[in-house]
Amino acid sequence: METHCEKCKGTGFLKEKEGKVSPCSCRFSEEDINRILGIPRRFWNAELDNYMCENPSESDAYKEVYIYASSYEPSTGYGITLIGPPGIGKTHLVVGVLKKIYREKGIRGRFFDTKDLIYKLKALMEEGKSARAIKTLLDLPLIVLDDLGSERLSEWQREMISYIISYRYNNLKSTLITTNFSLTGEEKKNKKLKKIVEDIDVPKALMADRLGAGTVSRIYEMTKVIYLQGRDRRKHNKI
Ligand SMILES: Nc1ncnc2c1ncn2[C@@H]1O[C@H](COP(=O)(O)OP(=O)(O)O)[C@@H](O)[C@H]1O
Ligand SMILES: [Mg+2]
Repeated sequence: METHCEKCKGTGFLKEKEGKVSPCSCRFSEEDINRILGIPRRFWNAELDNYMCENPSESDAYKEVYIYASSYEPSTGYGITLIGPPGIGKTHLVVGVLKKIYREKGIRGRFFDTKDLIYKLKALMEEGKSARAIKTLLDLPLIVLDDLGSERLSEWQREMISYIISYRYNNLKSTLITTNFSLTGEEKKNKKLKKIVEDIDVPKALMADRLGAGTVSRIYEMTKVIYLQGRDRRKHNKI
C-alpha cells in the first residue's frame, strides 16, 4: 500500500523554481485529516500540542511519544503501548501521534477502537471476504489499538487479538496501544512502576491473563511501553 504522496513524497510541499516551495494538494483540511485517520469525533481536537502535562509521569510520557512521532520510521515496525488509569489522556496522546506523523511524514495511520476492529474483521471473515481484504486492514503501516483488553473477552475475541498482534509483529507493522491494564504484574518489582500499577491494578486485570503470555511478550518487543500516572480528566471536567 502506498503511504507517501507520490508528488511531494510525504513532505506536504512541492519545490518550485528558484528554491520556492508551495503546499501540495495532499495537505488536507483538519476535518479531512480526522476522517482519513479514522479519529472518533470526540478526539477531533486532540493534538500533541494541546496535551497539558501536570506531573513528571505525564511529562515523561509526553516527551517519549513526541520523540517517537518526530522520528517515526515505518520500516522498523516499532510502536508504543500507553498504560495508565482511565481519563489520563492515553487516547488523546495516540491521536496526537497519528496526526503528527500524517502531517509531517505523509504516512497514513488508522485509529481503531480494538473492539470495533475485531468485530470488523470477524464480519469480513463471515462475509467470506478474501484474505486480501483482511490483510489490507492488518497491513496498514501504523494503527492504533485503543483500549486493548478492556472488558471481558470471549475465546474468539482473544484469538482475534492474538492474530492481530502476531500479524503486526511478524510483518514489522507499527502499532500504538492504549490500555488500562498492566501487562504482567512484573512491573511491581520496579520501584518507580510499583505505585502506578498498584493504582490501576484490579484483580484479574493483567494483560497476560486476558490475552495470553505470548501476545504480551510480543507487545513488549514491538512497542515502547510507557506508564502514566495522574488524575482522571473526565471526572475533573464534571466537577
Ligand atoms: N493531559 C491532557 N491535556 C489535555 N486534555 C486531556 C489530557 N488528558 C486527557 N485529556 C482530555 O480528557 C478526556 C479524556 O482523555 P482520554 O484520552 O480519553 O483518556 P484515556 O484514554 O486515558 O482514558 C479527553 O477529552 C482528552 O482530550
Ligand atoms: Mg482511552
